[in-house]
Amino acid sequence: MLDAAVVVLRLVQFGGAMILFGSPLFFLYALSGQGPCAAAALDWPRRLLAWGAGTLAAGAGLGLLAQTSVLAGSIRAGLAPDALIAVVTTMAMGPSSLIRIAAALIALGLLAWTRPGPVLWSLCALLGAVACASLAWMGHGAATTGPGRLVHLAGDIVHALAAALWIGALAAFLMLVRRSGPQSPDADQALHAALRGFSGVGSGIVALIVATGLVNAWFLVGPGGLAGLLTTPYGRLLSLKLALFVAMLGLAAAHRFRLTPALAAALGDPAQVAAAVARLRTSLALETMAAIGILALVAWLGTLAPVSAQ
Ligand code: HEM
Repeated sequence: MLDAAVVVLRLVQFGGAMILFGSPLFFLYALSGQGPCAAAALDWPRRLLAWGAGTLAAGAGLGLLAQTSVLAGSIRAGLAPDALIAVVTTMAMGPSSLIRIAAALIALGLLAWTRPGPVLWSLCALLGAVACASLAWMGHGAATTGPGRLVHLAGDIVHALAAALWIGALAAFLMLVRRSGPQSPDADQALHAALRGFSGVGSGIVALIVATGLVNAWFLVGPGGLAGLLTTPYGRLLSLKLALFVAMLGLAAAHRFRLTPALAAALGDPAQVAAAVARLRTSLALETMAAIGILALVAWLGTLAPVSAQ
């Protein structure tokens, strides 16, 4: 039960950290800076980031307790101050959890007391970047020793940041297509502009994810461990992850080459726009479920012995 709790709390931390990094950057590069559809004028951006920071703080705190309990053998022993102090002072996972808690609490303070706008979004993205980078010390990213250590560590950090750009954008898109009845033509235009804005960034994100994913796979599977992708628990979970990644790619391509042009053609006709947005909403929900599936698999992968260690 404790092991499952560690996996779930890793997933919660991935989700919170990725929203805190990826969503505010989306506000800056995909939403207009001025006018009624600017992120500062909408009611949900600050709430989305507060939700991300809040789940990150709770996930990192409980995650540290759960991981310490696993190491100490029981929840009672894990809650003993000595056990916690030992984990925080002797294991990389300890300080990295404290860094995520601090980044999340500072973000919550900023979100409570700073006016929404580019400065707030930039500060939240910076704190989100620190939180995403610290994930490497909670999984296999920082476990490699020897000459490849820095290559794997850097590759894993960039991998988490690139993944956060995609997942943070997905969270914002889900808020943008939430609709209770017809919207202003400005809002429809803003949604189309955001889809166009992301498709420009999207190809770069995918290239970074694949390149750094291969770096991770080089160290954790290795050129000689390919058979392990089907014969080991770690390998099978990683293969399932890659299958979900291909599904996300397919959905993202449909957004770019079919659903976004369809929305453009519908602009100006409220009935057509409503139908186009409904199709987008379904497709974005499917893509988000695949993304959550990937993060859940990675939360589990980080607790298993990789193929290269077997
Ligand atoms: C949308 C797609 C993807 C997302 C959201 C994603 C996300 C992540 C995250 C959050 C981690 C954990 C980082 C850590 O614990 O330090 C990770 C690890 C990893 N990813 Fe990805 N990834 C994606 C695609 C890929 C692809 C395409 C590959 C392979 C080419 C890949 C291979 C790996 C490997 C081998 C690991 C290490 C797992 C471990 O900790 O043992 N990922 N990924």
